Amino acid sequence: MSNVTFSSPVMARDITVYAIAGDRGTILAVAKAHKIPIPFDCQDGECGSCLVEVKHLASGNRKHGIALTEKEKEMLRQLGKITKEEIVEAEVNDMPPRYRLACQCFVRNEDIIVAFEGDKTLPAQAPYLTPAAKVYKGGVQIASLEEFHGFAVTVEEDAALHFDKLSASMEACGNHEVAKLFAQLAGFSRLHLAEARKRAAATDVAKFIPPDYAWPDHETPERTALWAGDPSLSRLDALRAALVGERRGYEFYYSIAGTTGDKDIRAAAKEFSQEEAEHVQVLEAWITREEWLQKHPLPTGEASVS
Ligand code: FES
Repeated sequence: MSNVTFSSPVMARDITVYAIAGDRGTILAVAKAHKIPIPFDCQDGECGSCLVEVKHLASGNRKHGIALTEKEKEMLRQLGKITKEEIVEAEVNDMPPRYRLACQCFVRNEDIIVAFEGDKTLPAQAPYLTPAAKVYKGGVQIASLEEFHGFAVTVEEDAALHFDKLSASMEACGNHEVAKLFAQLAGFSRLHLAEARKRAAATDVAKFIPPDYAWPDHETPERTALWAGDPSLSRLDALRAALVGERRGYEFYYSIAGTTGDKDIRAAAKEFSQEEAEHVQVLEAWITREEWLQKHPLPTGEASVS
């Protein structure tokens, strides 16, 4: 399995997709399958419109089997996107050049980041939403900006307490590694809480804390799923559970911004959703790193999330 992270100024945020064995084609094929807007035309290495920058996360001198064809090399040369040194490195050492044509470059069994400029004449793509967003659409009515701040502080506070509880229960059942990770995530949530309190500075949020029944399913969105309490949970699964919660937090704010009729609430919800999108990115990066570390363990004693 390989993680392919797409990054572009025309996308609201980076998107990581998992290309599994047998499901891999060119970078362009993977992008099209996931509606990633890499521009393209000929799809045959002859027009250069699908130019992308590829970063290989497994660095070092490992050979990559890059399969740089004469056609791709010639087009990159015409675009001024490959140096003589890169051509020698590709031909002699099988090392990949910085730029590739997405329609010619195959996704291999390694994690990569694919950056592209995209077509800036098109409207920016809406933020990526998972189906969980529908849970909140219209499900929570916010009457005032003060009430919105009360909800925001509750979401972050509840997430911190939730991770504290998960950490304690993992410790009690002897899963010390995941207990430590959940304690780290509780600290992460407290940082978010501090951000939420800062943004709500002019509001006495204590007056606007919503009751449990105000939430769909009586639970704040950043709580993990029940399986996060499984005593045999691995670090990677714990991170994935936390990511689901963060995505729901993002979707909660995004949905409020998209459904409220109040411009101040909309502006605040947009700011919070942007913050949450960054938290999602942080967790996705942790997961990518954790997956990489599982394949290439660090020497004993080095932490895998810092
Ligand atoms: S789409 Fe024309 S070179 Fe890739």
